[in-house]
Amino acid sequence: MESGRIFQEHLRRNRTTRHRRDTFSHHRARIMKLLARACPEPSASLCILGAGNCNDIELEELAGNYQRVTLVDLDDHALSEALEYLPPAARARVRHYGGTDLSGILSTLSAWLPEKPPPDAAIDAAIRDASVAPLPEIGRFDVVASTCLLSQLIDSVIMALGSRHPRFLELTLAVRNRHLRQIVELLNLRGAGVLVTDVVSTDTAPQITRMDESVLHQALVDLIAECNFFTGGNPFAIQAQYQTDSQVAHLVERVEVTIPWRWDIGPKQFLVCAVLFRRRP
Ligand SMILES: C[S@@+](CC[C@H](N)C(=O)[O-])C[C@H]1O[C@@H](n2cnc3c(N)ncnc32)[C@H](O)[C@@H]1O
Repeated sequence: MESGRIFQEHLRRNRTTRHRRDTFSHHRARIMKLLARACPEPSASLCILGAGNCNDIELEELAGNYQRVTLVDLDDHALSEALEYLPPAARARVRHYGGTDLSGILSTLSAWLPEKPPPDAAIDAAIRDASVAPLPEIGRFDVVASTCLLSQLIDSVIMALGSRHPRFLELTLAVRNRHLRQIVELLNLRGAGVLVTDVVSTDTAPQITRMDESVLHQALVDLIAECNFFTGGNPFAIQAQYQTDSQVAHLVERVEVTIPWRWDIGPKQFLVCAVLFRRRP
């Protein structure tokens, strides 16, 4: 079981947002709308990657809409707490897999420090390991959603290597692209993939706080053109990756980027959108 410093940092972050469920309401409503749209039939199964505190979903409602709901996260405590409030009938439909490292390299990253970077050979090995990070053995699903996990996977690379390291981009893209493939591999044929990604925050784009929802799409396009976004989180690059990656492009279709929305976590806001696709029959 993972226990390193980056793991501890993710747990700490979850503790700070655990009781902020009310601030997530708009973000949660947007994600629930996407999951309702993706749900093909009452017998469908759903997997949420990066479920954490489950602040960005209505777990009880999902357990009513889906036959089986599976939650995956590093943070077992956050998942267990989220389940505590469920009535028994809903609880019976939910499985949870805490302590799961979807990047496959968290313990390696936890041993690194940006001020004392590892040798090139260690980075080569991490890139290889990240590219084949194992798929958790949790079955296959009709809908797989990754809810703002990608930026956290990439943040682990930043905490380990620093964003200025010459090989930061290479390792980040290995982690990101493996995550994109994991979503595809967890899907049943005809299943729906929902990758929710936070693209930029008010730290570097304070103007998004004041914007009307109707102009957020243009704001997203402009910010990306200005290269003002989290490395690895550009939804249009993710869409292109799904369409061109030789390992998955032939398995997916109808890859689209949704209109963005704001996610308010209290001290700051994020511009968030989703990349949606279907697994080919
Ligand atoms: C920003 S939170 C997402 C919000 C979450 N869905 C909620 O409602 O609380 C990102 C989640 O990703 C999890 N996470 C970070 N790195 C991970 C990894 N390598 N494998 C699995 N989960 C990870 C964190 O524990 C956290 O719960």
